[in-house]
Amino acid sequence: MTAYYLTTPIFYVNAQPHLGHAYSTVVADAVCRYQRLLGKDVRFQTGTDEHGDKIVHAAEDAEVSVKEYVDTISALFRAAWPPLAIAPDTFVRTTDPAHMAVVQGILQQVYDQGDIYFSEYTGLYCKGCEQFLTEKELVDGKCPDHLTEPTKISEQNYFFRMSKYQEWLIDHINKHPEFITPERYRNEVLSFLKEPLEDLCISRPTTRLTWGIPLPFDNRFVTYVWFDALINYLSGLNYPGGDDFARYWPVAEHVIAKDILKPHAIYWPTMLKAMGLEPYQRLHVHGYWNMNETKMSKSLGNVVRPGELVAEFGADSVRYFLLREMSFGLDAGFSKEALMARHNSDLTNDLGNLFSRSLTMVKNFAASVVPQPSMPSAQDRELAEAALAMLGHYREHLDNFAFHRALASVWEVISRANKYIVSTQPWELVKDPQQTAQLGTVLYTLLETLRLITLTLHPIMPETAAKMAEALGVPGETSLNDCGVWGRLVPGRAITPGAQLFPRLQQETKDQPQPQKSKAMKEPASEKTPSPEPAAEAEGLISFDAFQNLELRVAEIVAAEKIAKSDRLLKLTVKAPEERTIVAGIAQHYQPEELVGRQVIIVANLKPAKLMGVASHGMVLAAKDGDRLVLSAVSGPVANGSRVA
Ligand code: MSP
Repeated sequence: MTAYYLTTPIFYVNAQPHLGHAYSTVVADAVCRYQRLLGKDVRFQTGTDEHGDKIVHAAEDAEVSVKEYVDTISALFRAAWPPLAIAPDTFVRTTDPAHMAVVQGILQQVYDQGDIYFSEYTGLYCKGCEQFLTEKELVDGKCPDHLTEPTKISEQNYFFRMSKYQEWLIDHINKHPEFITPERYRNEVLSFLKEPLEDLCISRPTTRLTWGIPLPFDNRFVTYVWFDALINYLSGLNYPGGDDFARYWPVAEHVIAKDILKPHAIYWPTMLKAMGLEPYQRLHVHGYWNMNETKMSKSLGNVVRPGELVAEFGADSVRYFLLREMSFGLDAGFSKEALMARHNSDLTNDLGNLFSRSLTMVKNFAASVVPQPSMPSAQDRELAEAALAMLGHYREHLDNFAFHRALASVWEVISRANKYIVSTQPWELVKDPQQTAQLGTVLYTLLETLRLITLTLHPIMPETAAKMAEALGVPGETSLNDCGVWGRLVPGRAITPGAQLFPRLQQETKDQPQPQKSKAMKEPASEKTPSPEPAAEAEGLISFDAFQNLELRVAEIVAAEKIAKSDRLLKLTVKAPEERTIVAGIAQHYQPEELVGRQVIIVANLKPAKLMGVASHGMVLAAKDGDRLVLSAVSGPVANGSRVA
């Protein structure tokens, strides 16, 4: 089986994960899932970068020991990924003794062969970058990334003879056009390499910094951040021994943003050359997510937390947005309104509607089984051909990390399929017994198109694709090569229309752009026969009246106790404003004592029910987050019994 190895940067633990970190990691996860769909043996690695001045300062600010600090933030990064359906195979921490040993082994090897030497250096040091900058890199005397003036520093240090490998690197980049992509970054690197390369300072005296890996040949120094961090790409493969290195290093690819282009495109390949190793295969460089035209970053305080977006929109919607909205390589602006618009337009309207309408028609017109197709008409053939052509475009674009293009080609087919429903009018065909064969072909064509769309969505929206595959009766379809052909659905097999894929979300303010209604979904004005499944119903929408029937009220918990023989239930006495008893299944999440005095939201007009012998008059609302249950609340005190609407 062909191997594939992809890494994200390892993130500094001086900040908590934000959407910028999440983007690189979603990209890598999507590509790894795609490579698995192609049948490859994939290794996906991420991790945290835990040494250096920045981290020490962050720990000081947090008033905890550095060890405690790095453990906490590293755990936050590790925990940030599963809710986004990101599933790395390895998570490297640079404070792992195994990683530190690999770094020391490499330092010793490169030192022994004479490529590391001791010297004095005076330079302009940017604390934010943790590196010396050249005059040329400054903009108005300031670091362009941190907008601060660098400090002039003079000290004795160890240096890596990077200049020795400059010609080799230029030659390598010229001979391998795919080494650094997109092309603009390759050009940037080549233009930088037109000037003579300076050697790289790789140490810090322990008088200035102790939180680092000691140089094995001089313990008065620790290694400087990049020589430590970049080696994670090898230490995660248990370099130098073991099978992983032999298997995955020859196919290594890295994802980064443009902020760390120089270390990855210049330091890292020359370090590898000095070690006698082959360079990585490809470096994929993306742009920044901006907030109001400025890079999203902790130092500017304008970050968006991925967890909050997932809670509001769901993991798949966030993944889709990130991959669809940014042209890989260029910057993109983030706004919740844009995310909401894509959710409602692309996901709820276009994809969600196509899926629910098609499956509802199969349920109503074909007894929930895959119908037998007959001779396809020109229209049927057109859709089938478009769906197959889409697979080709999709692959080509994903191979080049052009996610937005890959998704645009999938959505073009979704839009075609929606139009196809409108023009073939299956609800008319079903009325005429002579058209039964044609109806079968139309429904079959829709189901096959949906099956191919589902295949393309596995890497992008894994949970949604799994739901779709399940409903289509093909839960095990996980190979693009085998399944990317027309006609695999077997007539007679059961189809199980499931729940709605994407609930429609409400805009918060009037000023926000309205989602565009897909043209394909507009039924022709002349259509007299109502669709068998009105769109609202198909999307799981309820009327305002139905909502009004639900009596939601604020209630204060005035007493709480365990219910004998139940480890799940608590008996609550609440005031809303009259007193009533409610039995709530929250005993595994809350102790009775922590509940009294809280105001929660209840459904006040639920039919009473007896639970473990106790009559319950209503229901307490709580949010379910994986295994966690968090009680609802109001953001400020209000009168008990206030209506929530
Ligand atoms: N620790 C180094 C990387 C060492 S890799 C051997 C580092 N860490 S970092 O925490 O600052 O992460 C930088 C990376 O985070 C970027 O290269 C990118 O992957 C991601 N991003 C951080 N902010 C971002 C945006 N605003 N937009 C897009 N990606 C961003 O540098």
